[in-house]
Amino acid sequence: MSKSYMQGFTTQAKEIEISQLPITGTLPAWLDGTLVRNGPGQFEVGNQTYRHWFDGLAMLHSFTFKNGQVSYVNRYLRSNAYHKDNATGKVNFQGFAVDPCRSLFSRVMSMFWQPEDGNNTVVNVTQLAKHYIAMTETPMAVEFDPRTLETLGVMAYQDNFDSQIATAHPHYDYQRGIGLNHSTKFGATTFYQLYAMTEKERRIIASIPVKQASYIHSFGTTEKYLILAEFSLRLPNALSLAVRNKPFIENFQWQPETDSIFYVVDKESGKVVAQVAADAFFAFHHINAYEAGDTIIVDISAYEDAALIGHLYLDALRDPASGHPVIGQFRRYTLPLKGGRATYEHITNESIELPRINYKQHNGRDYHYAYGGSVKHGTQDFLNQLVKIDVKKRTALCWYESGCYPGEPVFVPAPNAKAEDEGVILSVVLDSRQNTSFMLVLDAQTFTEVARAAVPQHVPFGFHGQFFSGI
Ligand SMILES: [Fe+2]
Repeated sequence: MSKSYMQGFTTQAKEIEISQLPITGTLPAWLDGTLVRNGPGQFEVGNQTYRHWFDGLAMLHSFTFKNGQVSYVNRYLRSNAYHKDNATGKVNFQGFAVDPCRSLFSRVMSMFWQPEDGNNTVVNVTQLAKHYIAMTETPMAVEFDPRTLETLGVMAYQDNFDSQIATAHPHYDYQRGIGLNHSTKFGATTFYQLYAMTEKERRIIASIPVKQASYIHSFGTTEKYLILAEFSLRLPNALSLAVRNKPFIENFQWQPETDSIFYVVDKESGKVVAQVAADAFFAFHHINAYEAGDTIIVDISAYEDAALIGHLYLDALRDPASGHPVIGQFRRYTLPLKGGRATYEHITNESIELPRINYKQHNGRDYHYAYGGSVKHGTQDFLNQLVKIDVKKRTALCWYESGCYPGEPVFVPAPNAKAEDEGVILSVVLDSRQNTSFMLVLDAQTFTEVARAAVPQHVPFGFHGQFFSGI
């Protein structure tokens, strides 16, 4: 099997700043703003290697589009984790799959993470008013300057919010002018805490006691509801996290005999209006959700089980004998609000991961189009194509180029766009033929290339990014 993508899992030591990347094709003149992407940039420290794709030290990349040109900057996030790990040549911080034996933390039953830890916020970025923050799966975030990518320090909320883990996939509710997120507070009783966030504070909307918390990477929203999918990957004993005998994620257990549960929570009252059971499944990413009469439609990039987490350890990704793990199914779940189990159907036979939509206009609402990374049929490979799925017609368009490995496709609408897909798709692509990367710009309607801008070095495979208009 091909392992030509391996460059994507190697350290990028060089921080560079280029005012004009060489462009093939023509960038739309209206494209004005900065795509900031987050992901690991450093996969080892001293003679130790981070174990999991999700644990490499965070590097930010920015592509700024203006007047038909694009500039590029990459910078390591100077978190406490970055400084301490590099200063000591050791892995010091608790992460997703960091072996706690390597941790300097004493194994005591204190807090799981302290806010001042300045964790390795490697997963996503977002904006809260004038603050731009990098996030990982804790409520703590690290602020950065979106122009220079300079690290500004831990985001200082003025609240007493108390949760140990949170998603790095907050939603933004444009109607209410607030961010929305999900967190878990472990203790004698463990609670899911859904919360609203502003630049100042995090306010709990719903606090739901649970016997065994699930590992939850993202959630969905509709106009009225928060949709929490509790997968059957559960933590049998919350104390095991505090004792730290195992890496964080390895405390969770796949329980295929148990149902997965969708919680439907009223955004205003915080009331759980329905708990809908489904056969056991797992996912990292919701695609979209919306209300449809007495049901809720939840689209999700789903897996039969949680084996994918194991496949994303760097040893497994680098093993020539390992398979091609990232084959997310585009499942559409229908949740009956008046009783009964959730059912699902497949929207397409193309696989999908790192899904995106026209978020501002269609998150939480009925929609036509989803975009994502995918694995081309007939290839045994890492994510090697982009797909555009028409969820109404149930058809797909694909972008594929041999030897290329595209990352998450971010949709940017054209100014005054009338159609849902009027705009462009931005994706950072690893070109394994040259061991460099390029910014790919597709016309989102035709899903064909309009331009690409060459980066003179490789961009390690990252996770998520956001386009910030006008900066
Ligand atoms: Fe994610």
